[in-house]
Amino acid sequence: MKGKLVLAMIVAGGIMLYLSGCAKESADRLSEGSICDTTNVSYSKQILPILQDNCYTCHQGSAASSGIDLSVFATLQAHVANGDLKSAVTHTGNVTPMPFELPMLPSCEVNTIVAWVDQGALNN
Ligand code: HEC
Repeated sequence: MKGKLVLAMIVAGGIMLYLSGCAKESADRLSEGSICDTTNVSYSKQILPILQDNCYTCHQGSAASSGIDLSVFATLQAHVANGDLKSAVTHTGNVTPMPFELPMLPSCEVNTIVAWVDQGALNN
């Protein structure tokens, strides 16, 4: 009788270990799913939404901050070419960190912009 109880406890313990292992595994899989994919960054699918959400409030239209209208691709390109875009979003170099007086963008968004610049800042 005692033997059976011990056996039952071992089995129950085993099941609990197994279940917690699964829970951990699925949590790992979840975080894997949110890994930042910066291969072949698309301007229209990835960069444009970041700029629209975080930059256009100040950098769009005739009243754009510092006259920098980032919704004009040629203007954006000019700030890629002089290195300001990368410096501004990575908070490096001598340019004013962007978004202006706001927290730095999440690392995935920063990395995506940097990767797009490094891949030639294509209008793709
Ligand atoms: C709250 C308004 C605001 C937001 C949001 C904002 N900017 Fe700016 N941006 C400014 C101002 C103001 C300046 C001029 C700063 C200065 O002259 O020191 C500026 C300047 C810049 C410059 C030129 C940097 C320099 O020092 O010459 C770049 C590039 C730039 N912004 C890119 C961006 C990008 C990219 C985003 C979004 C990630 C962004 N900004 C979001 C207000 C903003």
